[in-house]
Amino acid sequence: HDDLHQRPFVKELDFTPEEFRHLLELSASIKTARREGREEQRLRGKNIAVIFEKTSTRTRCAFEVAAHQQGAHVTYLDPAGSQLGHKESIKDTARVLGRYYDGIEYRGSDQRLVEELAQHAGVPVWNGLTDQWHPTQSLADVLTMWEHTDKPLNQVSFAYLGDARNNVGNSLLIVAAMLGMDVRMVGPRSLHNASEVVDHARRAAAVSGARITLTEDVAEGVAGVDFVYTDVWLSMGEPPEMWDERIAVLKPYQVTAKTLEATGNPAVKFMHCLPAFHNSDTTVGAKIAARTGMTALEVTEEVFESSHSIVFDQAENRLHTIKAVLVATLGD
Ligand code: CP
Ligand code: NVA
Repeated sequence: HDDLHQRPFVKELDFTPEEFRHLLELSASIKTARREGREEQRLRGKNIAVIFEKTSTRTRCAFEVAAHQQGAHVTYLDPAGSQLGHKESIKDTARVLGRYYDGIEYRGSDQRLVEELAQHAGVPVWNGLTDQWHPTQSLADVLTMWEHTDKPLNQVSFAYLGDARNNVGNSLLIVAAMLGMDVRMVGPRSLHNASEVVDHARRAAAVSGARITLTEDVAEGVAGVDFVYTDVWLSMGEPPEMWDERIAVLKPYQVTAKTLEATGNPAVKFMHCLPAFHNSDTTVGAKIAARTGMTALEVTEEVFESSHSIVFDQAENRLHTIKAVLVATLGD
């Protein structure tokens, strides 16, 4: 798969299903090698910049640790600390950083920004999340599903409950469609994926045999699934004034013990990309609780802390999958 070398990783649709499966296999083999103490460094002497215009815990730390474990050096540019976005455009920043670095990670708002960076940097650019896509997340999610099932991926089913129009909802729908999975996007019609995204998914499904369901009905959506997935109801960059409206339309889609029961699958697993609002122990959680009386939003504390929950395996896999992306696109 030399064809991934020097390629940008900005959205799933840029890859063939075979290329995506190759990244999954590479992730699994790199993870095993690390665990067995025989990881080989393929990024020695490389320099990588990671730019975050939005905050991050997992993505930033996974990029930094993955790069270090592979022998590369990392520069972190925080949401305010460079000229980018204030005094200098993406296009100029791309042409400067491309002279110093071998690869650049970028997290920001509009997808067009990361695409523009990739177009002008002359080195691989990796999307660490935009408003539209979160491709390093979907790669980690599918690896996690693969590890937690005995079935081939094209027999695996999952339901995504909540805001399907966000980055994670879009990325999961497309990846599931590419890999031939049974995917159900469950939420109010107003928050189903945009029609362009659904069209892309249906075209991929026609080739892969994926089954795609968009429904407002929780019982129909979760029936028989292997995995129940949810994400926050308000994504980074969305105005806090929207909270009341979002809570009102998404309340029926909160993942509770009843939701898991409704799957009819006692072995069903719960997934979340994190961070999650499952209690009011955070400052934002406390504010929402004070305003709405709800101490949990998209998932209850009970489900989050239950034995069904595989959210920390999922978080760990961000490291292994991001490392695979770095190695495939930049490795010797
Ligand atoms: N899941 C995820 O992208 O987490 P961070 O926002 O902490 O990077
Ligand atoms: N949809 C969430 C994902 C966070 C990892 C957001 O964009 O805030």
